[in-house]
Amino acid sequence: MFSLQDLQEKVNQLISNQEFKRKPQRLYDPIAYTMNHGGKRLRPLLTLMACDLFDGDVEKALYPALALEVFHNFTLVHDDIMDKAPLRRGRETVFKKWDSNIAILSGDTMFALAYQYALRTDYQLVPKILEVFSKAAIEVCEGQQLDMDFESMPTVKIEEYLDMIRLKTAVLIAVSLQIGAIVGNACEKDIEAMYNFGIQIGMAFQLKDDLLDLYGEQEQFGKITGGDIASNKKTYLFLKALELCDSEERVVLNDLYNDSSIESDIKIGKVKSIFDKTGVQATVELLMQDYYNKAINCLESIDVVKERKSVLLDLSDSLFSRNY
Ligand code: IPE
Ligand code: IPE
Ligand code: MG
Ligand code: MG
Ligand code: MG
Repeated sequence: MFSLQDLQEKVNQLISNQEFKRKPQRLYDPIAYTMNHGGKRLRPLLTLMACDLFDGDVEKALYPALALEVFHNFTLVHDDIMDKAPLRRGRETVFKKWDSNIAILSGDTMFALAYQYALRTDYQLVPKILEVFSKAAIEVCEGQQLDMDFESMPTVKIEEYLDMIRLKTAVLIAVSLQIGAIVGNACEKDIEAMYNFGIQIGMAFQLKDDLLDLYGEQEQFGKITGGDIASNKKTYLFLKALELCDSEERVVLNDLYNDSSIESDIKIGKVKSIFDKTGVQATVELLMQDYYNKAINCLESIDVVKERKSVLLDLSDSLFSRNY
């Protein structure tokens, strides 16, 4: 059984062993720039943890785990174009540092690289891995489209938002665990329980990301504070605040989201003061707790001795208190 540190070390070592810098330079430099400078590397870690939970051969899960991290980074490179985000991991985003064409093509290459890495495991496992990986990849795109559609939709229901974040974020976290369980030779029931555990953790993870977007420290979080408000994201914070505020504030909130001429810092300040007045932050935390409890139930249903689950539990805990 490996510790969190052991597995983190394996992920870091694996990534630093890859030669992402190839030619043409302007295609591969952005890939190396993205892959070699941190991030939490959560998804590959989850793959290794899931494999280890079932006492599987973690070495066989390494390249599928890398596939998930490369795929995740591809989504970020394209997401930053879509969200017009200038900052990620405390540095300029790829499309800002280079340009959008470069970010599109480097991203496409990362998408294909991810599939190449996914093949590097026991060949009997490959069809199943590709099946679940492709399904998740398509769902991430569906979620990303809904996220953009919502920016300009006059009303979005909370259920619609929750389904959108399930697609754009939770499914990739879920499939990371699922693939780990597949490589670990878990039974069908446990593979499914790992996936469901990942969905619940993933929902809470995106809610936390939405919270940090506004309430985090830019220095630590590495992304522009208030970026979601600036781009009219219909987050749970926004949708729940609309429910909790009074009718006058509701008009103000909607007007602020419809006003394309307002200076972004002023807009962020005004929206935030309404959010704060409604106490919506605490409501988000309650919902996160709800997802966390459901996640724990999924994990408990898995037929493995309790001690083996503690690494996954500790990591899940740390995702709640993270500040980046
Ligand atoms: C950012 O993911 C995108 C979301 C799904 C919220 P992470 O928060 O895992 O980003 P990095 O890889 O650690 O930078
Ligand atoms: C994350 O959405 C989903 C994907 C990147 C697929 P966000 O737009 O909230 O992610 P960040 O905050 O830019 O990392
Ligand atoms: Mg986005
Ligand atoms: Mg974004
Ligand atoms: Mg975000």
